[in-house]
Amino acid sequence: MVKAVVLGAAGGIGQPLALLLKCNLHITELGLYDIVNTPGVAADLSHISTPAKVEGYLPPDDGLKKTLTGADVVVIPAGVPRKPGMTRDDLFKINAGIVKDLATGIATTAPKAMVLVISNPVNSTVPIVAEVFKKHGVYDPKRIFGVTTLDVVRASTFVADVLGDVRMSKQIVVPVVGGHSGVTIVPLLSQSSHPLPPNLSTSDYQKLVQRVQFGGDEVVKAKDGAGSATLSMAYAGAEFADKVVRAVKGEKGINVPSYVPLAADPAGAAQLTKDLGKELEFFSNTVELGTEGVVRIHPLGPVTDKERELLQTALPELEKNIQTGVNYVAEAY
Ligand code: NAI
Repeated sequence: MVKAVVLGAAGGIGQPLALLLKCNLHITELGLYDIVNTPGVAADLSHISTPAKVEGYLPPDDGLKKTLTGADVVVIPAGVPRKPGMTRDDLFKINAGIVKDLATGIATTAPKAMVLVISNPVNSTVPIVAEVFKKHGVYDPKRIFGVTTLDVVRASTFVADVLGDVRMSKQIVVPVVGGHSGVTIVPLLSQSSHPLPPNLSTSDYQKLVQRVQFGGDEVVKAKDGAGSATLSMAYAGAEFADKVVRAVKGEKGINVPSYVPLAADPAGAAQLTKDLGKELEFFSNTVELGTEGVVRIHPLGPVTDKERELLQTALPELEKNIQTGVNYVAEAY
């Protein structure tokens, strides 16, 4: 029995994500919460002939509490998306408050749930969840995840493009580390399961890196004011949630990329600090999952000089984003 919850379930990401979770046969209960339209979304999904029992709630009558009661996995795509010209950090003012309030609900109603944060800027919203949990005395760094799967999905697709065979994209695995915003997104292309062509020019390499880092902008621009990635994000979010659900149910050896508190695995964190030459509280890397959340944070592995340069640019920015999240909660309480 696994109960999954989507907070922000009526939105551009929330609806297709809820659909994909309803189709996940491991999930037996699906709770949907938003400030609008969730009863309709829930009624619609409830007609699909898969096992999950669906319920949708709105804020009145303790809707958040009802949705979260008994939750094992909570996914948060609530908040405003980008418009052309905006960075993910521009969303902070609005989304920080939304994430803080939802995190408070989880801390008080489902403190043992795995929390999967999609709302941007992920680099700062994940620290907000962690700080709120600390304030409520229920912080477990193993159970809080920033969803960076879309960066990895994009990297696979774009590398397949460069290799000239899109049919391979599902098999291609490229570690993408750092954070989830512009230059903090660092694809380790040298560790791609399918090596890049040896004659790839420096400018084509740089274009590929840039495309992984700023792929979200392609969608924001194409949607022309109507939002950011929703369908590809729902796909990525459902893929990540599926792995967490399977791990919660006891499947072993599941590895996922995620932006996590490094306190989740002190030994892994110590190695990562050595690899990076810097101590950080949060970082995105491959982590192994177990029934209680993160069991291991993997080392960075061998990086090239070019990748080290990308990391040198990413780390100070990431550190600033983390501090923004931490400060926000400190000032709010
Ligand atoms: P959207 O505007 O279509 O949907 C957001 C939903 O959140 C709306 O239905 C809204 O009613 C709901 N909402 C607002 N305040 C709420 C509250 N207090 N409680 C519950 N629900 C609330 O936006 P979209 O496109 O679904 O994006 C959502 C977030 O996901 C944005 O912050 C966006 O930047 C982020 N995102 C993250 C990605 C990632 O890779 N992690 C990729 C793409 C988007």
